[in-house]
Amino acid sequence: MKQRVLGKTGFRVSEIGHGLWGIGSWSGSDDEASRAALRQSIRGSCNFFDSAFVYGNGRSDRLIGEVAREFPGHSLVLASKIPPADFKWPSSPKNKLHDVFPRAHVLEYAAKIRSAFGRPIDLLQFHVWEDIWAREAEWQDTVAELKASGTIKAFGISINRWQPENALAAIETGLIESVQVIYNVFDQAPEDKLFPACRARNVGVIARVPLDEGSLGGKMTAETRFPPGDWRAGYFNPANLAETLKRVEALKAELPEGMSLPEMALRFILSEPAVTTLIAGMRAPGHVQENLAVSEKGPLPADLLSRLRPHRWDRKPGN
Ligand SMILES: NC(=O)c1ccc[n+]([C@@H]2O[C@H](COP(=O)([O-])OP(=O)(O)OC[C@H]3O[C@@H](n4cnc5c(N)ncnc54)[C@H](OP(=O)(O)O)[C@@H]3O)[C@@H](O)[C@H]2O)c1
Repeated sequence: MKQRVLGKTGFRVSEIGHGLWGIGSWSGSDDEASRAALRQSIRGSCNFFDSAFVYGNGRSDRLIGEVAREFPGHSLVLASKIPPADFKWPSSPKNKLHDVFPRAHVLEYAAKIRSAFGRPIDLLQFHVWEDIWAREAEWQDTVAELKASGTIKAFGISINRWQPENALAAIETGLIESVQVIYNVFDQAPEDKLFPACRARNVGVIARVPLDEGSLGGKMTAETRFPPGDWRAGYFNPANLAETLKRVEALKAELPEGMSLPEMALRFILSEPAVTTLIAGMRAPGHVQENLAVSEKGPLPADLLSRLRPHRWDRKPGN
């Protein structure tokens, strides 16, 4: 597994990281199976794990904390996220920072995550962000306080879905060490402005939703349905599912002999030098094995990359 350095943090993280949303919150998750997937990842040299308090109200924070303790000699990098105080996703530019990330709330949830991890938090992220908050002292002082107390080592922002430019002012402050953004073969917009800004400021990039919530796994069909209460039931509603499947089929037509769709999708992301790590949601042992193996295969050939550019799909927040 190849590693890249996460911006100014100096953390050496695996190119393929493990995303824990499914493990914490999606239907069909089972803690024993999740522990097995996490152990398999660590044994396969994945060392970056992205959790959030809201993934099962601390469920995935606890699970990765427990499993990490089984591997004391490994340099694991554990990330999690502070929920907005109103528990609403996404945030709105009409919200005031003080109502979404007041100091007391941030300290309270950082303490909960630290306790679930059983160790300091390597990377703490805000789970929503509005760039109009960038210059406000309250979050800057709270983050400085968390670092000074040893609760966290580094701080970043998870950017709202399909708003990749809604963190450029935060990057300019020089006070954030990473951004987490949706980037995949459909969602190529971070290349326009976000990635150049991250490169200029040496900000680490965590590419999330690398498989478009599963569609780029290539196994969904027009009959795929998710139970009510599973977030994917809305994301893959019949109209969006039909449009997505059409685009997935167009991508399959680009596949070179012997390459699977998830391999092509993940190698597309690793071909972008601004990306530090991609975090794939993985619960099935076969997915862990297949995805971790992609790092050694390296970037995609230039001709395939240029054929994938027109598959860009710019979606609007709220779609
Ligand atoms: N606002 C935010 O900050 C935010 C929002 C979304 C996501 N995230 C982070 O980003 C991570 C990744 O995104 P995601 O988990 O939502 O979606 P994703 O990684 O794009 O897709 C995950 C789905 O793909 C399936 N899959 C994985 N590998 C596969 C393979 N080789 N072949 C076929 N299917 C495969 C998984 O199945 P199994 O689970 O059954 O293995 C799961 O259903 C999250 O876990 C979370 O850490 C953050």
